[in-house]
Amino acid sequence: MCGIVGITSNKPVSSSIINSLKKLEYRGYDSAGIATLLEGKINEFKCEGRVKTLENNISKIKMLGTVGIGHVRWATHGVPSTLNAHPHSSESVSVVHNGIIENSSTLKKFLVEKGHIFKSQTDTEVIVHLITEYLKDNDLKTSILKMLKKLHGSFALGIIFKDEPDLIIGARRGSPLAVGYGPNENYLGSDSYALKSMTNKISYLNDGEFCVLKKNSVDFFDENGKKINKKILELSSEEGNYDKGDYKHFMAKEIEEQPTTIKNCVNEYIDKINKDINLLNFPWKQNEINSIKLIGCGTAYHSCLMAKHWFEQLTDLDISADIASEFRYRKNKFKKDNLYIFVSQSGETADTFAALDLCNKNDMKTCSVVNVVESSIARDSNFVLPIHCGPEIGVASTKAFLGQMLVLYFFSLKLAYLRKEINKEKYLKKIQTLLKLPDLVKKTLETETQIQSSCNSFVDAKGSMFLGRGASFPIALEGALKLKELAYIHAEGYPAGEMKHGPLALIENGMPVVVIAPRDKYYNKTISNMQEVIARGAKVLLITNKSNDEILSENIWQTVEVENIEDDLLPFLITIPLQKLAYHSALKKGYDIDKPRNLAKSVTVE
Ligand code: G6P
Repeated sequence: MCGIVGITSNKPVSSSIINSLKKLEYRGYDSAGIATLLEGKINEFKCEGRVKTLENNISKIKMLGTVGIGHVRWATHGVPSTLNAHPHSSESVSVVHNGIIENSSTLKKFLVEKGHIFKSQTDTEVIVHLITEYLKDNDLKTSILKMLKKLHGSFALGIIFKDEPDLIIGARRGSPLAVGYGPNENYLGSDSYALKSMTNKISYLNDGEFCVLKKNSVDFFDENGKKINKKILELSSEEGNYDKGDYKHFMAKEIEEQPTTIKNCVNEYIDKINKDINLLNFPWKQNEINSIKLIGCGTAYHSCLMAKHWFEQLTDLDISADIASEFRYRKNKFKKDNLYIFVSQSGETADTFAALDLCNKNDMKTCSVVNVVESSIARDSNFVLPIHCGPEIGVASTKAFLGQMLVLYFFSLKLAYLRKEINKEKYLKKIQTLLKLPDLVKKTLETETQIQSSCNSFVDAKGSMFLGRGASFPIALEGALKLKELAYIHAEGYPAGEMKHGPLALIENGMPVVVIAPRDKYYNKTISNMQEVIARGAKVLLITNKSNDEILSENIWQTVEVENIEDDLLPFLITIPLQKLAYHSALKKGYDIDKPRNLAKSVTVE
């Protein structure tokens, strides 16, 4: 989704801005732009499409300004086009914006009446004209304060001014914004990744704050314009791997990395000497928590559903899982003994962040499960459980899903043990099994060839279904989501037992249906449901685990068997052929696997 970069320096900034924009490409975008200031004139260049195109365009004209802002846009108001790309500029100011201005039409009306002429369809342009309007009668700081007070909605802003050769304003409400410190230059970025190649010294703006960057100083202000102090944090030096290596796509690499990322995570959380799960610095006593609410979006929500299953199986705690965009507007009953767990790979998802903010405002216990430990969600929660996956670049989440599930499994197991809901012997046995997981994930990657041959039926299908019960239901949802996201094939994840109550009507001759039936306590029931869809013409791809027992049905089109492991951990293995199914279906259709249409990696708007 949209990304912001700003640099003020004593040397030309355009190439550094372009390099930082490249770091933001993973978020998903449709157009890019840059504005720099030279000799009292704002020069703006924008294009639809990739940052590379922008780079080629500006290399022809040499942008020499020493202060500038850049942006990658993911369309919200107005189609993806050069005209709607950011920055948006008047003669006196240029603005880049992440987020949505909810009262833009009212503001536009007011500005048009004052004679302002709008060029784009974006909500952002009202910001440009508001500042331009206020600058007529006010100094710069007053104009910024007046403009910020007028805006409703969420935003992160970067602004440069024709008459200020060494100044960038950054402002934040809702959408994240970071400031970086360099030698004779300072930076603004929508996340610290964007700035990591230039500095490891970072400060984060809180909601309502704004900052004034000059090449040799940075000042921070609260929403009333009062100067405030900010901590400077040092980012870890580990760069993370942003390289595809020999893989065709980041997604392929990220799927193959899973044995390693799982191993890293196991090593971080399992104390092999004491045979224990370490939740370092866990701030609450177990008897202070009676209820757990898990909250996330997309794939992260599916790992919440998975965790709900484990917490229910292993503990007597009261558990629920919720979609962040629903939770934040629900009439919630906040209770002292509730623990709210926010799951987010990026740690920046707007709805998840808003749900966390709501819980913090109600003084609740909050915990986050994140991949990016410097993210807004991690910073604002009481306790953080990192998933240790390394950067995930492919828009469709893979290794982060396994990482989220793993950390949540650790958490449920440890709580069950502390609450004496499982005995020591069982606890130790489960830890022992966890140590086998990386190798079994690796072996399960070998199901690829079988899955590749199933893809044609999915690629040509009008639609498909993914069925499962119990622990396999969240995995069915995730398998269907992956196929939708990547191969643009209609896919529905459904509890297998619900088919008779409606969706069975969708089954017709030749329709591909994935049935997830590990040999757990649901096996026989799911196999019966499978027979019902086969009887109506479905082409069933059955995913189960290896066994000597025969499968109780003929007429199964294809069977993929994953390795054997304790029931609790089978979802980790079963996910893998489903990731491969989506990947190879998208590959067959020739789609942009790492950047699927209309989607973004980091969803920073509501
Ligand atoms: C987007 C991504 C999904 C991701 C979801 C939640 O929709 O495309 O892959 O699962 O956001 O993201 P988060 O960073 O909060 O896990």
